[in-house]
Amino acid sequence: MCRYQSFGGIVSNFTTMEINVKIDDLKIGMYVILPTSWFKHPFVTNEFSIKKKDQIQTIRDYGLKEVIIDTSKSRVAKADRKRCTPQSEGTVNTHPTTVVPDELSEAIHDKKLPAQQKAKAVQKHSILMISNLLDNPSAENIRDVKKGVAEVVDLILTDDDTSYYLMNITSHDFNTYTHCVNVGFLSIMLAKALFRKSMAHDMYELGAGFFLHDLGKVYVDPAIINKPGVLTDDEMEQMRKHPVMGHKILLDTNQVTNESKKIVMQHHERFNGAGYPNKLRGEDIHLYGKICSIADVFDALTSERPYRKKMDSFNALKLMKEEMLGHFQKDLFEQFVLLFSRP
Ligand SMILES: [Fe+2]
Ligand SMILES: [Fe+2]
Repeated sequence: MCRYQSFGGIVSNFTTMEINVKIDDLKIGMYVILPTSWFKHPFVTNEFSIKKKDQIQTIRDYGLKEVIIDTSKSRVAKADRKRCTPQSEGTVNTHPTTVVPDELSEAIHDKKLPAQQKAKAVQKHSILMISNLLDNPSAENIRDVKKGVAEVVDLILTDDDTSYYLMNITSHDFNTYTHCVNVGFLSIMLAKALFRKSMAHDMYELGAGFFLHDLGKVYVDPAIINKPGVLTDDEMEQMRKHPVMGHKILLDTNQVTNESKKIVMQHHERFNGAGYPNKLRGEDIHLYGKICSIADVFDALTSERPYRKKMDSFNALKLMKEEMLGHFQKDLFEQFVLLFSRP
């Protein structure tokens, strides 16, 4: 079993995801987690893959002596990971892949993989895909992610057993990329149930909108996103910009349909007008935005948060029904509840 991997001469236990690496040992392809406040460096996010030498110099210029490297997200050639041979000092194998891991398609098409294991593998590699995209939400990367999402959509449309496990995978964290993937799975499941007799909906485009619904969070301070407590009014104002920011990224990159853009813009609107950014209500909210809003709230409630334990599906649905029903279109919410009725 592959247990060790070398980064610039620093050998790490492969089961350990994060290692400290000196600035001089940084290489292109490594996935960096900066151990400093978001305000103290010029990068868009605290975590990213090093793509240019300039980025290493920028990290050095900000006085950091070492950073954390997440080995699981670093782009080391897959062949070398499998061979498990420590590399020579001062070198790292980088692999100019797309943002979509090869393993995602391999898991989806592996006919021997049991449904539960397939669901776990598809979730894991989908998370890496979205994490890579959030590092660099370029037009090229969004186009590639759409291909990966299309394969996931096909899987959900054709494999009920794996879909069941995808829907019931529990998340132990609430980072943006895990959340985007879970909301993607749940929303596609609901769309499948709603549109099974209709050819009028492009499920691939819909899937892209669902997976990208929180894309705009790349422009929100991670300290706000990860804050273990109630947000201040200022912080809430920053957070509430993410639908507009995500919509702008999709406008600028021009890779998805207008309906998918509406998912991103409207997933925090509420049926009773209590949402944001435009306080839309009822039929003014696009059907696809309403679908996404149900999955979005459900995943938030059923994921572990720094300030509260996650809820199980039953209690999350109960809370949504008893305390939030005005937020959702009733028949859509009822259909969502039915997704969980399988014995
Ligand atoms: Fe959101
Ligand atoms: Fe969300």
